[in-house]
Amino acid sequence: SSPLLQDSFSVIVRINEVGMQEAANFTRQWLQQSMPRRKLPDLKQSFRSSWASGAIKVFNSTIDRFVPPLIRIRSSSERKLYMNTLSGFAQITAEWLVDSSLFKLVRIPVAGQIQTQMTGLISEIGLTFDDNNQMEMVDCVALIRDLRVQLKGSVAADLLHWFRNAITRTIRKKIEQQYCVMMRTQWLPWVQAQLRNFPMNLTISREPEVLLVQSLNRIDMSPLGLDAHMRSDLLWENEFVQSSDAANITEIDLESLPSSTRMIDMVVDEHTVQSVVAAAHFAGHLKTTIASPFLRTSCEVLCVGTVLPELQEALPNRTLRVQASTQSPPVVLLETGRSLVYMNATLEVFPDPPLPGVKGSILRITVDTDFILTMQMRNNKVKGYLNMIKAQALVIDSKIGLMSQKVRNMSTPFLEDAVDLFLGRGLFVEDPFQFPSVNEQLSLHKGALR
Ligand SMILES: *[C@@H]1O[C@H](CO)[C@@H](O)[C@H](O)[C@H]1NC(C)=O
Ligand SMILES: *[C@@H]1O[C@H](CO)[C@@H](O)[C@H](O)[C@H]1NC(C)=O
Ligand SMILES: *[C@@H]1O[C@H](CO)[C@@H](O)[C@H](O)[C@H]1NC(C)=O
Ligand SMILES: *[C@@H]1O[C@H](CO)[C@@H](O)[C@H](O)[C@H]1NC(C)=O
Ligand SMILES: *[C@@H]1O[C@H](CO)[C@@H](O)[C@H](O)[C@H]1NC(C)=O
Ligand SMILES: *[C@@H]1O[C@H](CO)[C@@H](O)[C@H](O)[C@H]1NC(C)=O
Ligand SMILES: *[C@@H]1O[C@H](CO)[C@@H](O)[C@H](O)[C@H]1NC(C)=O
Repeated sequence: SSPLLQDSFSVIVRINEVGMQEAANFTRQWLQQSMPRRKLPDLKQSFRSSWASGAIKVFNSTIDRFVPPLIRIRSSSERKLYMNTLSGFAQITAEWLVDSSLFKLVRIPVAGQIQTQMTGLISEIGLTFDDNNQMEMVDCVALIRDLRVQLKGSVAADLLHWFRNAITRTIRKKIEQQYCVMMRTQWLPWVQAQLRNFPMNLTISREPEVLLVQSLNRIDMSPLGLDAHMRSDLLWENEFVQSSDAANITEIDLESLPSSTRMIDMVVDEHTVQSVVAAAHFAGHLKTTIASPFLRTSCEVLCVGTVLPELQEALPNRTLRVQASTQSPPVVLLETGRSLVYMNATLEVFPDPPLPGVKGSILRITVDTDFILTMQMRNNKVKGYLNMIKAQALVIDSKIGLMSQKVRNMSTPFLEDAVDLFLGRGLFVEDPFQFPSVNEQLSLHKGALR
């Protein structure tokens, strides 16, 4: 079972301005799909004039043609998101009928069809997040720039004209109202569902399966974008390594990072990177066996036996196996463009077949190393590149006498191979994001990985 680490993890997901524009495009598509053939509620408007009174009814309204408005979403520093619409076009057909005792009396049917053309929906919706991080709509105003209503019916022209003005007013008010009702009752739940289901989990490794499981802690807004502060829990082979205390999440200073051109930025703090590496150490994952044709003690041309003839003499016809493992959790410091890694490892050498009378390793060396790790992400794959800057080896235990010092002097390349396996090729995670993405870029900054 995994040991509990007393650390907290922190990840911030920022939706940048471009990301919000994409969300606006998505909303435009939603409107495009949900508006046409939609039935509008029936309207009833009473009227009273010098010559008659009664009610005008408008019913069976349907949207025949619809061009969604242009949409812009922006965030502000007052913890508010604004969604504005501009332009757009809709054509609505309906039926109308006047219910009046006067017209009934004179037996004139006052009814017919309506054709409405609406151009320009100017609206602003204000959104915020409540204490449970649920998105809520705080205001909505809508205004139709131009509304043309055409009445058709078997009524005298001046009467039609009189009713047309009354009906236009009613329809305008009703559509403006209805837009806000629809956005509140249908669009908002749709957005809330998108936000809830957005797969923020990060895959760190597939074998073993390591996930950084994200849950929303807090949402902040600024003119630069919407920041979702995530609480991250490390799930190692279906077991929680750590559930962090939300209060202890370290703060990442996003403003210190260079501005971004991506839709979404995901920023992981150094502490989280450090904790993942530490968990890998404690889970025994930072352990590897190096096998290579070079590790034969007897050969024709080039192998460890030809480089160190004493070794060939002492251990003829064998292949050496080198096992490398970390002694303690490596320390990772993130800097601009690169990271520094401090690692203490143990190398153990086993001969194959074993020496008669010797159990286990014939040589144990500890190596204290510093190296530079740079990382890249391309086509959804993360790759690490290593450059060892210091390696100090010490022989701890030897069954091969003085030769051990010579072997020790050759140990660094093996450690480099081992580290490359751990961190270089080990970082070959494909598709770390559990959502479709393109054009990813990975960059290292002081204290954070973006
Ligand atoms: C939004 O849609 C417009 C027009 O369809 C397009 O030009 C623009 O690139 C889209 N924006 C994003 C961020 O995808
Ligand atoms: C309204 O539409 C329904 C079907 O959509 C139709 O059955 C009904 O007759 C229409 N009402 C009038 C008065 O035309
Ligand atoms: C993230 O992973 C956790 C644990 O496996 C899972 O319960 C949750 O549903 C995942 N979230 C998403 C959005 O996939
Ligand atoms: C978490 O924060 C509390 C105070 O907010 C502090 O007392 C505690 O030591 C912190 N724990 C860790 C692991 O940093
Ligand atoms: C090593 O192997 C070679 C060829 O297989 C054999 O001739 C030689 O005697 C072996 N040496 C020892 C010391 O076993
Ligand atoms: C490695 O070992 C040295 C000497 O024991 C120690 O000073 C250093 O802190 C260790 N480094 C790490 C990363 O554990
Ligand atoms: C190991 O290398 C050091 C310098 O890197 C050298 O001084 C020493 O003599 C070497 N030891 C052996 C046994 O080759």
